[in-house]
Amino acid sequence: MSKIFAHRGFSGKYPENTMLAFEKAVEIGVDGIEMDVHLTKDNVLVIIHDEDIRRTCDGEGLVRDMTYDELKKFDASASFRGVYGFCGIPTLREYFELVKDTDVITNIELKTGIFEYPTIEQRTIDMIKEYGLEDRIILSSFNHFTVKRCEEIAPEIKRGFLSESWLIDYGKYTAAQNVQCCHPIHCSLTKEIVDEMHSAGCEINTWTVNEYKDIERLSALGVDALIGNFPDRMIEKLR
Ligand code: G3P
Ligand code: CA
Repeated sequence: MSKIFAHRGFSGKYPENTMLAFEKAVEIGVDGIEMDVHLTKDNVLVIIHDEDIRRTCDGEGLVRDMTYDELKKFDASASFRGVYGFCGIPTLREYFELVKDTDVITNIELKTGIFEYPTIEQRTIDMIKEYGLEDRIILSSFNHFTVKRCEEIAPEIKRGFLSESWLIDYGKYTAAQNVQCCHPIHCSLTKEIVDEMHSAGCEINTWTVNEYKDIERLSALGVDALIGNFPDRMIEKLR
């Protein structure tokens, strides 16, 4: 059966990438949680999707230009502003404190597509090791050089290549780079493509699976994990 991963936490019902969204995902019993990580000006690993806080917070500016003390004052409630009260931008450390004693798998997406944050891989891996979470992490990125840097630092931690494109031989490409997981956009997955990835020995974790029809189709194709904003729908359909 496909594993159920909450995308940016339980972001269909709670503000994305906030502790509230992560707590609610753990509460309903997901197998895993996906999240996005950036680095502040003073080198704190924070969980937020965009480089600029404007879309999700009550302010604006680049994460990399602000210290964590500056960033933590903003409300990251996004479209849920006023519904659940103040929801700050979490640090990766706060998140690890939540999941350290659970069996939840964490997919950390390193957001190095625009700014590379030169030390982000090392800092993330140092913290994973500090918490002893090596066996319950998947490190992924659209920046495949980031994924390779993770391999150099900690080959024992599982890695995934993200892509929004319909790649030819995605499985072969991934396996040739010694990466264990393909993280394709869900609409690109046909039976042939799923079979190619599995034949190459890759695990397939696809996103962003929100509709019931897609949950049914992709689980029937044997995709390893479905990453979606409504993990409650996936639980209803798959368990
Ligand atoms: O990691 C899967 C998915 O989250 C990638 O796209 O833009 O939602 O971070 P995005
Ligand atoms: Ca993401």
